[in-house]
Amino acid sequence: MTHRIGIIVGSLRKASLNRLVANSLIKIGADSFVAEIVEISHLPHCNADHEDDPMQVIVDFKKLIESLDAILFVTPEYNRGVPGVLKNAIDIASRPYGQNSWEGKPVGVISVSPGELGGFGANHQLRQSFVFLNMPAMQQPEAYIGNAGDLFDTDGELVDMSTVAFLREYLDAFVRWVGRCRA
Ligand code: FNR
Repeated sequence: MTHRIGIIVGSLRKASLNRLVANSLIKIGADSFVAEIVEISHLPHCNADHEDDPMQVIVDFKKLIESLDAILFVTPEYNRGVPGVLKNAIDIASRPYGQNSWEGKPVGVISVSPGELGGFGANHQLRQSFVFLNMPAMQQPEAYIGNAGDLFDTDGELVDMSTVAFLREYLDAFVRWVGRCRA
């Protein structure tokens, strides 16, 4: 069965390194799954006052998340934690209480940074929410992509072959993981 995987990028920046990694994942995994980037830039701030009468964009976002077989989060680290826009997207689709759109969704995390530590803090802080929201997260391999500014050519192509090979291994493991979760 070909899985339909949503990729959520935790940066809204036009020249985002995380988005370049997400684009590379789609290309590298083209033979193994169907993937799409799930946009989050249009979502309003999470506000529990509006849960009884949610905006259409929230209804649509929740439906899209529910329709996917799995989610891959590709995120930068902001001040050693998860960027607010990404946490906001997670919070929005988790509500109202009892209607958690993330329920049971297999997930993976790839953190990406121009720094050496590869976004470790964001990667692990995200995992805290997975526990509460009952999202089974792949444990191994872990993916902390550091020095990410050096991995792409001027057209945004991933040209660092060791990273390409690592991401291929990561995606192979992720597809197996999703298959096990959905069996
Ligand atoms: C950062 N950056 C950063 N990097 C890091 O490795 N650890 C960190 O804690 C932070 N903190 C941080 C806070 C804020 C508010 C910004 C805007 C940036 C740098 C960050 O990794 C860098 O800007 C990346 O390029 C962001 O990812 P995208 O936008 O290229 O995908």
